[in-house]
Amino acid sequence: MSDSYQKLLENNKAWAEWRVRDNPNYFKHLAELQNPEFLWIGCSDSRVPANEITGTEPGEIFVHRNIANMVVHTDLNMLSVLQYSLEVLQVKHVIVCGHYGCGGVRYAMDNKDHGMVNKWLCNIKEVYAKHATELSQIADQEKRANRLVELNVMEQVRNLAKTSLVQKAWKKRGIKIHGWAYGLENGRITDLNVMMGEINDLDPVFRFED
Ligand code: CO
Repeated sequence: MSDSYQKLLENNKAWAEWRVRDNPNYFKHLAELQNPEFLWIGCSDSRVPANEITGTEPGEIFVHRNIANMVVHTDLNMLSVLQYSLEVLQVKHVIVCGHYGCGGVRYAMDNKDHGMVNKWLCNIKEVYAKHATELSQIADQEKRANRLVELNVMEQVRNLAKTSLVQKAWKKRGIKIHGWAYGLENGRITDLNVMMGEINDLDPVFRFED
């Protein structure tokens, strides 16, 4: 009787063998070249795997995930991923993908003390506070949470735009940043149509001079 984690290693062996059967040079090619067009900033939620839900293969998406797909300007991890993907990998699109039914967003909406994670959730609470008038008009808690999921994604897209990293990439080669929301119940991604592709899409006070 094997432990559940051992199943992962067995699966991996079978997968690697299948890949090589299909294409003997599969891993050789992949190892030599990392050339993704996309940076994905998504939620850590196990039900939202970037490659699987977008029908992409290893090598196609550079991925950063955290609780509730946040872009926090003091997060060295996120900033390092952003810099590497924009300046070295030269991705063309950055996608912030939230998901309906997000636990992080739901936690941020209650008034309970969740301990250390309060500090992270506070960033989502800020989004709630900014849109409190709109959100307070939605009586149904689930619908309100799902609207906050959308508003949070939009806010994180704007947070990306506020970084000098994105602004430099805009000036150099016109990258695009997108906001999406994934539905756990139907597997569909909704484009929230908040694409930002140039400095003029951003409030003037956040624009850096050359
Ligand atoms: Co989530």
